[in-house]
Amino acid sequence: MPPVPGWSSDVMRPRPATFFRRAALLLPAILLLGSCISDAPMDSLDPAGPIARRIDGLFWLTFGVAAVIFVIVEGGILIAAFVFRDRKSRKEAKEPKQTHGNPKLEVAWTVVPVLILVALAVPTVKTVFDLTDASGAQMQVDVIGHQWWFEYRYPDSGVTTANVLVIPEDTEVALNLTSQDVIHSFWVPRLAGKRYAVPGHQTVLLIQADDPGEYWGQCGEYCGLSHSLMRARVVVMTAADFEQWVAGQQLPAAEPAFGSPAEQGREVFLSAGCTQCHIIAGVNDQTVQAAPNLTHFASRGVFAGATLDRTPESIARWLANPPEIKPGSFMPNLNLSQQQIDALVAYLETLE
Ligand code: CUA
Repeated sequence: MPPVPGWSSDVMRPRPATFFRRAALLLPAILLLGSCISDAPMDSLDPAGPIARRIDGLFWLTFGVAAVIFVIVEGGILIAAFVFRDRKSRKEAKEPKQTHGNPKLEVAWTVVPVLILVALAVPTVKTVFDLTDASGAQMQVDVIGHQWWFEYRYPDSGVTTANVLVIPEDTEVALNLTSQDVIHSFWVPRLAGKRYAVPGHQTVLLIQADDPGEYWGQCGEYCGLSHSLMRARVVVMTAADFEQWVAGQQLPAAEPAFGSPAEQGREVFLSAGCTQCHIIAGVNDQTVQAAPNLTHFASRGVFAGATLDRTPESIARWLANPPEIKPGSFMPNLNLSQQQIDALVAYLETLE
């Protein structure tokens, strides 16, 4: 085998020095390329509400201070390296003046960093306290983490939904987080920071959006096989649209037309095992809920932990074998026939 530059010829293993030098060059290149991405729905540097903006402000303050220190330190290193470099033309390299012990300098480089840290700590601690004070919240939503989806309950209106959190614009919402199983973490980077959802415990996260729109989130704590597929979507509406949404969600499930494929789908829902975990209000209210409430399934744009867009094709694919899409999914493969799947898709799509 001909020798590969940078690789030792006997074993295909990079020589450490070359390997690290290349990795060191590659890392900034990757970071630089990453900053070019324009379609980034989870960009925490693009805040869309006052809470995320405060966190963003802290970031830029810290970044600014760090940048100034970086320029001063790196500049000093570069100047020293240039002025006192080893010159072949001279017999002796120029030696800098040697200093031993300088109380003034030592006090300065101890006191100055302390002052910088204090200057950063004051606004940081104030922000942390402000953002955990939920006394001014205008609305409450209970968020329950499950492997691997988020459930949302609105105590004021009795609405229960999943995967898509709907909130009105310009409203400070307190999310009361907890978990049904393991520790999860609720994170919608453009609207708020990140907070744990812990079983048997309640944490509070404030969230607020300036404008109607769709905001993406992700479970921020490793919680098992399909952690990466445990996503969140926040839909922000105008106050009027939100009121209308709440009124719609409070209704029982739509009644399928007599003799329609949707009606057959409801029969499949009642007989194939779905009712063991899912609730459709007005159809099987008695069940203990272990999976997303499906009463208004078709009012949500995404499902399956907000990983799939709600299209007839993706619903059919999901029903055919859930664990294939979300490894470890607690929704089993029910071995439904194509006919049963088609009927269920027709029914689910009527549940607006
Ligand atoms: Cu839930 Cu990661």
